[in-house]
Amino acid sequence: MGRIKPGDRLIVALDVASPAEAKRWVRRLSPAVGHFKVGLELFTAWGPEAVKLPLGARVFLDLKFFDIPNTMVGAVRSAAALKPALVNIHALAGPTAVRQCAAALKKLKNPPKLLAVTILTSFTDEELKRTGMRNGAGKMVSDLCRMALAAGADGVVASPLEVKKLREEFGEKFIIVTPGVRPSWSEKNDQKRTATPYRAVKDGADYVVVGRPILNAPDPLEAARTVIREIEEACE
Ligand code: C5P
Repeated sequence: MGRIKPGDRLIVALDVASPAEAKRWVRRLSPAVGHFKVGLELFTAWGPEAVKLPLGARVFLDLKFFDIPNTMVGAVRSAAALKPALVNIHALAGPTAVRQCAAALKKLKNPPKLLAVTILTSFTDEELKRTGMRNGAGKMVSDLCRMALAAGADGVVASPLEVKKLREEFGEKFIIVTPGVRPSWSEKNDQKRTATPYRAVKDGADYVVVGRPILNAPDPLEAARTVIREIEEACE
């Protein structure tokens, strides 16, 4: 964990629809922030160019692919050609899909890290049941993480409340990226299962994704620096 610089551990979610706005955010925050997350909103509005942000900013391409293995392999290959630092797929697509995506990426030169999304933090156990999944989120996250790592994923996306348990169960040698991170001074917005950047990193997260608390702050660059200071303290 110690080898990633604190500023590189913060991934700012560029949840905006306009390329111009996204570029402005990157120029404004790049002095402190190491990674930016390009998700469905920006990618759908802008296309593959969205991964080529100004100033060579590193990108987590958060498109959460979920399809049959053959289609997913094609998608991760196309994603890798855009040179993001991190890409993701749904672990629920199954072990064959994860294994084939991981194998396809490993054949490339400098491939992005492959993350498997476990259970979306917006799911409650009740909602999982209504989709036919009866084991509860906690057990499912752990089962999906075990399967994804065995199939060759470099890491997982999980809520900050699950990080500690995943580290205890599966050790240190995989990446955990966690959204739902809220500094103590910020609003929770619609995020329910949150933790502070300090707690998330102390518990074992490698990267934390923060969107609105930084983008909506009166001084966004200073807000990012405050989050990075918290990450630094957790790394000490
Ligand atoms: O603004 P906020 O900090 O809540 O942004 C968090 C980002 O992480 C959003 O882009 C959201 O889509 C993403 N995310 C999440 N929970 C997940 C997976 C992704 O909040 N389980």
